[in-house]
Amino acid sequence: MERLAIFGGIPVRETPLGYGRQYIDEDDIKAVAETLRSDNLTCGPKIQAVEEKICEVTGAEYAVAVSNGTAALHLAALTAGFQEGDEVIVSPITFAASANCILYCGAKPVFADINPETYNIDPASIEKLITPRTKGIVAVDYTGQSVEHNAIGNICRRYGLTLIEDAAHAIGTRYQGRPIGSIADMTCFSFHPVKTITAGEGGAVTTNDEKLYRRLLRLRAHGITRSRDEMVHPTDALWYNEQVELGFNYRMTDIQAALLVSQFGKLEKFAARRKEIVAGYDAAFAEMPEIFVQREIPESDTVRHLYILRLKPEALNCDRRQFFDALRAENIYSQVHYLPVYWHSYYEKLGYEKGICPNAEKYYEEVMSLPLFYGMTDADAEDVISAVKKIVAHYRR
Ligand SMILES: Cc1ncc(COP(=O)(O)O)c(C=O)c1O
Repeated sequence: MERLAIFGGIPVRETPLGYGRQYIDEDDIKAVAETLRSDNLTCGPKIQAVEEKICEVTGAEYAVAVSNGTAALHLAALTAGFQEGDEVIVSPITFAASANCILYCGAKPVFADINPETYNIDPASIEKLITPRTKGIVAVDYTGQSVEHNAIGNICRRYGLTLIEDAAHAIGTRYQGRPIGSIADMTCFSFHPVKTITAGEGGAVTTNDEKLYRRLLRLRAHGITRSRDEMVHPTDALWYNEQVELGFNYRMTDIQAALLVSQFGKLEKFAARRKEIVAGYDAAFAEMPEIFVQREIPESDTVRHLYILRLKPEALNCDRRQFFDALRAENIYSQVHYLPVYWHSYYEKLGYEKGICPNAEKYYEEVMSLPLFYGMTDADAEDVISAVKKIVAHYRR
């Protein structure tokens, strides 16, 4: 057996391979430079261009570009009307922002458990948590795989709930052929550099509802409107605008939008490469009884943002920490997504206790995310597989 690098052996590769990285080409740089030389660094034509692009790719009627994915979730939660006294159901296996947006509105996040095989929120678990206070669901397309829209849509219709889809991981994914972004009441995207396409920082909300769209636009810019039909004191003075509610400055700059438009031009190519890498990992790990491969629902045509390596503890003589550290010593830098949100000390202080979502908690103890990004070479992916195999061979029961 090969000696593991963590015990003094030779690592599978000489240089570290991180779990995610943006891919920026000369066209991206040119697009940003052109905007920097233009008249508008913000509130300019690139915002409309990127919003049109988002509508084209997601099939949504309306898109509102914002400064990041967290701002997108905040605006969506406010626009949904979540407020004090309301409960909103959310998955615990996600980035904290998916639940924080509920707290921003004064409402209470209620955590539903995940499906232990797909890792997405389990519709049966949602249904058990519905009370007269439940106003909505924040459903996360975790790793990029679509949530179960048919089942969740049924629940929303039956109980009159608003569905916000957190598609921060899922640009380009389709559910039964429909692009993510055109299905939920509002869908939120993130364009952080680790995502499939990036704006540096950036986000968007899509919707098919004009009323929601107008509110999102207003809240993005301080609650100020230039539409006379939204004003309390309308006038035809050209300079006049009016703050009609309390909003924010969550605008995206034209610099970010220019980069994002350029990145959208590469989405198909990025998606195809991610699918190729995922298929290679799946094929290699499906043969290994020590590894559980994430299940894909047939309805989802997934552009995967994260690749989750899940250990079967009963088949290995090590825990996740030992595996993670061994992988790092081999120069494969993974990350863990995610601590169940209610395990964060802030949520603990709010009164959430361990044990409420057993599938999520078990998942967290067994996983790490492997490198997955467009710029990876086949040799990089082979290194990842070799390192996993090497460590599994060492710790196999
Ligand atoms: C599931 C999920 N939701 C929301 C966000 C927040 O996006 P941003 O980092 O653009 O604010 C992220 C980002 O990492 C995420 O992974």
